[in-house]
Amino acid sequence: MKTRKRVEALSDFLPQIRKDMIRAAHAAGRVLMRYYSMSLNVREKKGAGLVTEADLAAEKSVMNILAKARPDFLFLSEETNPHGQPGFSRGRWVIDPLDGTTNFVHRFPMFCVSIGAEWDGQIVAGVIYHPVLKDLYVATLGGGAFLNGKRMQVSTTEKLRNSLLTTGFSYRKQEWLHAEMTSFERLSRTARAIRRPGSAALDLAYTARGVFDGFWESKLSPWDVAAGGLLVREAGGQVTNFKGVPFHIEQQNILATNGLLHEELRGIVK
Ligand code: IPD
Ligand code: CA
Ligand code: CA
Repeated sequence: MKTRKRVEALSDFLPQIRKDMIRAAHAAGRVLMRYYSMSLNVREKKGAGLVTEADLAAEKSVMNILAKARPDFLFLSEETNPHGQPGFSRGRWVIDPLDGTTNFVHRFPMFCVSIGAEWDGQIVAGVIYHPVLKDLYVATLGGGAFLNGKRMQVSTTEKLRNSLLTTGFSYRKQEWLHAEMTSFERLSRTARAIRRPGSAALDLAYTARGVFDGFWESKLSPWDVAAGGLLVREAGGQVTNFKGVPFHIEQQNILATNGLLHEELRGIVK
């Protein structure tokens, strides 16, 4: 008699992949810190910023660990598989091995490793590691968001005029800078202040932990936002595109807030 294979449920493996992702993020963080004090070979990618041997080495170390942990998962990773691996699997890793490469190159200590786990098209776990501060951000779908093991909550700021916002700008300046500056100017008039730290993943992590009240940026890639988008939602915030549609990693335009000032911010950004 044939025995039917049980269909794998998310709860069967979520705790294990969470551990694997943390292990991979720590390993990549160690790689980045080794390169941080070295002189680097820097290459410019057309319309997509910089890449160094640190990006590549960190990506290799994440992929080695995760490929062993779940050989059935595919990869969508910035430097090696930017269009995703062909084939079908219910699971996929979405990886930015170094978010904030320009900061890294200039020794501005805002950069991180970002890893998302996708299952059936939905991000179910996210890990961001900021190796300079040794800050580890972890979220699982329905399981909350944590910074170094402590539960995170978004801020309680209700009005834009009392808010600290964060944003970033696309590398494709010819096409997008004008529109980005228009929103930046309008929001600079309304919000208390705006920052531009240079790592979309950390912008989201700092929104999840309640430091920033909101983040917006256009033309991002899935690996910039996969883990951070889940962190914000699991910390009680709201994440949509500029039209208010619930966020998906392929959407490019992201608006992530504490929820309370989402519509006020969206009214200006859209
Ligand atoms: C970039 C950073 C930056 C954002 C850019 C991203 P990278 O990622 O997240 O903050 O403004 O749009 O591409 O190139 O450093 O991985
Ligand atoms: Ca990035
Ligand atoms: Ca990157």
